[in-house]
Amino acid sequence: MMLNLPNDFLFGVATAAYQIEGAVTGHGRGRSVWDTFCEQPGRVKNGDTGAVACDHYHRYREDIGLMSDLGVGAYRFSISWPRVLPDGTGRVNPAGLDFYDRLVDALCQAEIAPVATLFHWDLPQSLEDAGGWLSRDTAYRLAEYATVVGERLGDRVRMWLPLNEPVVVTMFGYATGYHAPGRQLGFEVLPVAHHLLLGHGLAVRALRAAGCQQIGIASNHTPVWPASRDSADVIAAETYSTLANWLFADPILLGRYPEGFDAAMPGPVAEDLEVISTPLDWFGINYYQPAVVATPGEGEHVGTPVAGGVPPPGLPFELRPLPGHPVTDFGWSVVPDGLREILMTFTERYGPRVPPLYVTESGCSYHDVVDGSGRVADPDRIRYHEAHLRAVGSALESGADVRGYFVWSLLDNFEWAEGFRERFGLVYVDYPTQRRIPKDSYHWFRELLKAHAAR
Ligand code: FCB
Repeated sequence: MMLNLPNDFLFGVATAAYQIEGAVTGHGRGRSVWDTFCEQPGRVKNGDTGAVACDHYHRYREDIGLMSDLGVGAYRFSISWPRVLPDGTGRVNPAGLDFYDRLVDALCQAEIAPVATLFHWDLPQSLEDAGGWLSRDTAYRLAEYATVVGERLGDRVRMWLPLNEPVVVTMFGYATGYHAPGRQLGFEVLPVAHHLLLGHGLAVRALRAAGCQQIGIASNHTPVWPASRDSADVIAAETYSTLANWLFADPILLGRYPEGFDAAMPGPVAEDLEVISTPLDWFGINYYQPAVVATPGEGEHVGTPVAGGVPPPGLPFELRPLPGHPVTDFGWSVVPDGLREILMTFTERYGPRVPPLYVTESGCSYHDVVDGSGRVADPDRIRYHEAHLRAVGSALESGADVRGYFVWSLLDNFEWAEGFRERFGLVYVDYPTQRRIPKDSYHWFRELLKAHAAR
């Protein structure tokens, strides 16, 4: 397959610390909210935990070998905040920082660009105990942590992201309780969004001050489609899109909240927005599926990834299934054109204020199995990535400035509240033995990258 993507288009794979590293005790690591959450009965399917996960902490060289053989240009990983700062602030754990130093060196040696996320949801438990993202101080702690890692790794990490998916932390972590720390604040959640955004802006500045280059974000976004042309559904869809998309992207890219939100935010909002909108070098979109939204009524409620957990009562919208598209084994709709659409929406909505875009995550979970001959056949995943890469190509043709695409994920891993059942990897992980088995999609991607490089 040949793609109409530019020669210097960046192909990568992505992971996150808590989902793959394991080694949650010892080596000086502090606790994170996900350690605590996993210990609480009923929070994670099958009682799964990230305590061992893919044991990447000990097997990172093997995993870099897999990436090197795959031929990707970049690896997006996250740094575990409590591994570096066990209490979230103050004392640095040298063993933690050394681990990421070795990881980054090994990536550079393999000619794979390191792309580092600072906060992929594993907040140090002691910061949560002090209020977590409800506390303004947590934003300043993120900046402190950014300085520590920026000073150590800034000479080698190619791209930086202070945050992954602030909307998910806000909605799942603090509004519905589906994710750690499991709080159910409902409509009281808005300060969490503001503090995450403030932390993002402060961390961008801290990273720059430490000499880091190419700073962006991974924010998940989705086209929102009204369930019908009925004006009530159209309004419900707009409300949903404001909360899921623009509440997070507008402050960063335009320096303002959507209408009506300023008053609900804590702190000196105008001053904070200056910090939040510190210009970025690039903007990353994580895309999985569109949302179909209706006004609340008799229709069926669905637990899509954008509405995990129990929605607070009184929401002015409800999510509906999307008929007519294939679904993954996780139940997520496969709609490649939704990726083209959201890339174009960003291009048009933000015009000259939009920096170069990256697809920082795109992927699908199928309940893959190893067959008798030791092979993992995953034709649906091949179709998924091929179609989504074509969608990026169409967006480029229509004028979007998209610079790269990161597959979620290199490895099957701990899928948060869903545990290990969901498998997003190009590489199958046999958890009892920790054996890595490249799936058919891995071999397909490898050929694609070779063909692209040879053009
Ligand atoms: C995203 C997360 C990532 C992974 C994928 C499937 O929301 O950023 O960690 O769980 O979904």
